[in-house]
Amino acid sequence: MARRIGVRELSEWMERASRLAGVTMVFDGFTAVHPTDLHIPAGEFHSILGPSGCGKTTLLRILSGFQRPSGGHVLIGGEAVDHLPANRRPTAMIFQSLALFPRMSVRENVAFGLEARGVSKRERIARADELLALVALEAHADKRPDQLSGGQRQRVAVARALAVEPAVLCLDEPLSALDLKLRQHMRSELRSLQKRTGVTFIYITHDQGEALTMSDRISVMNKGRIEQVGTPTAVYDAPATAFVAGFVGEQNVFTGKVTSVEKEFARIDGPGGTFTGRRTPDVALGDQALLMVRPERTGLVDGDGNGSGVNRLTARVEGRELEGPYLNLVTRDATGRRIVLHLANDGSVHPATGATVIGFRPEDAIVMPVAERPVAAAAEH
Ligand SMILES: Nc1ncnc2c1ncn2[C@@H]1O[C@H](COP(=O)(O)OP(=O)(O)O)[C@@H](O)[C@H]1O
Ligand SMILES: [Mg+2]
Repeated sequence: MARRIGVRELSEWMERASRLAGVTMVFDGFTAVHPTDLHIPAGEFHSILGPSGCGKTTLLRILSGFQRPSGGHVLIGGEAVDHLPANRRPTAMIFQSLALFPRMSVRENVAFGLEARGVSKRERIARADELLALVALEAHADKRPDQLSGGQRQRVAVARALAVEPAVLCLDEPLSALDLKLRQHMRSELRSLQKRTGVTFIYITHDQGEALTMSDRISVMNKGRIEQVGTPTAVYDAPATAFVAGFVGEQNVFTGKVTSVEKEFARIDGPGGTFTGRRTPDVALGDQALLMVRPERTGLVDGDGNGSGVNRLTARVEGRELEGPYLNLVTRDATGRRIVLHLANDGSVHPATGATVIGFRPEDAIVMPVAERPVAAAAEH
């Protein structure tokens, strides 16, 4: 779609890949970002997902020039931009607070960045109106930000950021102040805006649902390191580390010693029982390992297909939580381990109390070595 925004053709943006090369950040002896390489092709919706404090904002501030890294380089379109301050880089940033000017009209807010760039008043207004049409706010151009809803203000912030024609738009948890319904609506709005404009979006979030629904690719970050970069499907279905497995979505986790390794499968023997799952390549006989299986792939043996696999255990039902389309059945096994089942709310009668046999298929479980770095954070999510 050859949509024109302002004076620059879309195709020109398309060439500007972003790259972090060996970027590090140390604050007073504390390493907030370990050496990091990341390549984001132009036109990608890329999320950086991780818990609070893992270094997401720092990484984005380094990319957009608000923070000078302790080491490494930032390249945009193949050129090092290390020497360029934020306002001279082809990047724009939207902060969580949005930072709209309260006394200016919506149109003036959007046009603001253009004045500093020497664009004439007539041209500024024309471009602001064009961008307001892009975010479906043309009818609100003369209002002040406080006369708009949260979602509308969000769109003003996006229009204002796009006014300076960035190659890369950096968004730092922009939806976290909105309520759930609006957040879900804005996910698809931002996603479709990104596709329509072709601008690279780098989107920070600690919300895995946001990252999974919006992104072309996700970088999952933990304690200053990117542990995996991949499509939402890859990150969810084939997590590279125990942290990724636990942070992106929920997992039931078992521990044990590896007693058999066969092609792509491994068996573990632990206090909770003996279970088989797909293995990561680095699993070796005798290792302490984790086996993880998603609640939606854990089932009742007498229920639907999920419970019919060779992996079985007895657990006591402790509670039921209705989510609407599905039901969380919360159970505890003999070792005291909490095991959650997501069962379809399809009219079947599910046990409310007492002992029940649950199971899962080997192909739905993943076995990986206990990581060198602590994985406690993963199990808590
Ligand atoms: N200017 C700074 N001075 C000292 N420490 C900082 C500074 N900025 C960030 N940090 C620390 O670096 C770590 C990563 O912070 P941040 O990038 O903001 O994480 P996130 O955005 O993932 O929540 C945190 O431990 C934070 O306290
Ligand atoms: Mg942050």
